[in-house]
Amino acid sequence: MKAVVYERYGPPEVLQFKEVEKPTPKDNEVLIRTHATTVTSADWRVRSLNVPAGFGFVMRLVFGIAKPRQPILGSELAGVVESVGKDVRNFKIGDQVFAFSDTSMGCHAEYKCMPQDGVVVLKPPSLPYDEAAALSFGGSTALDFLRRARLQRGESILVNGASGGVGTAVVQLARHFGADVTGVCSTANMEMVRSLGACYVIDYTKEDFTRNGETYDVIVDTVGTAPFSRSKYSLKDGGRLLMVLAGLPDMLQIPWVSMTSSKKIIAGPVAVRADDLRFLARLAEAGEFKPVIDRRYPFEQIVEAHRYVDTGRKKGNIIITLNLDN
Ligand SMILES: NC(=O)c1ccc[n+]([C@@H]2O[C@H](COP(=O)([O-])OP(=O)(O)OC[C@H]3O[C@@H](n4cnc5c(N)ncnc54)[C@H](OP(=O)(O)O)[C@@H]3O)[C@@H](O)[C@H]2O)c1
Repeated sequence: MKAVVYERYGPPEVLQFKEVEKPTPKDNEVLIRTHATTVTSADWRVRSLNVPAGFGFVMRLVFGIAKPRQPILGSELAGVVESVGKDVRNFKIGDQVFAFSDTSMGCHAEYKCMPQDGVVVLKPPSLPYDEAAALSFGGSTALDFLRRARLQRGESILVNGASGGVGTAVVQLARHFGADVTGVCSTANMEMVRSLGACYVIDYTKEDFTRNGETYDVIVDTVGTAPFSRSKYSLKDGGRLLMVLAGLPDMLQIPWVSMTSSKKIIAGPVAVRADDLRFLARLAEAGEFKPVIDRRYPFEQIVEAHRYVDTGRKKGNIIITLNLDN
């Protein structure tokens, strides 16, 4: 099968198309033929090892010290089950599915095996493959952080980086849960963020939300420009700062902040659950959650897609399509 592999960390140019062995599903696995996948900020970080302060060595421990242990990137896909292992009961050949392989990656290939009890679920028939492929990364991250924050109906939430893959999901889900959403983005993305359900939109090129006197129950920072030292005065008493992007120094201050203030910092990796994908699929089917798709690239142009993601300016999600018949 055709796959995009990288044998050393670095810029998009380290990626190469290669013929690799088509995987064979183990007894409890399904083999999925990929129709659509995505290039996310995680692919950029893992490929380049451009990671938040203090995490360089941890990333090498997880992904390979001298070179990548898993040579195929990509954490999301949507496709069709082509074959199943002998113990598989949850899926059958021909099922349309979408999946999130998270840090195991491996989705930038024509085929991918997933355990039947892994994070793989049926795709609603009405949902196109490209939208299904883009549900998991931003959606799971948003759900997990909002759950940890115990966001309540009627609370106010500010989303810094509201136009990115995670931000566009947080805005929509927070709105769905009945929160009063403020999005922070650049001028060009204001209308889009408003259309996702933000009641207020702040243009970060004109206004610094940490200095305008407004306060929120929850602040979500997906950019890294709103650490606790800057955003604490914008949090109400009992407020929670969700640091989707946090360096080691940010994480080390979490216990101290909890002990010395009514406010709380929530950070760290996201817990990934198949039930979250099912929940997101139901919302998408009902038209209450729609992954924002900025650009689509054919598989052959995936290096170009990485170059765009590397700019840090994408809006929502970047789709890679592998088949013309979807
Ligand atoms: N903790 C976890 O487990 C976890 C999970 C997922 C992601 N993450 C991290 O979360 C971060 C965000 O991920 P993502 O996928 O959303 O990234 P992304 O899609 O690449 O974010 C790009 C967006 O960031 C916006 N942006 C850039 N500078 C900004 C600024 N100063 N203020 C406000 N917005 C700004 C850009 O808008 P403009 O073009 O308008 O500037 C663009 O729309 C990444 O660093 C990722 O590594 C962590």
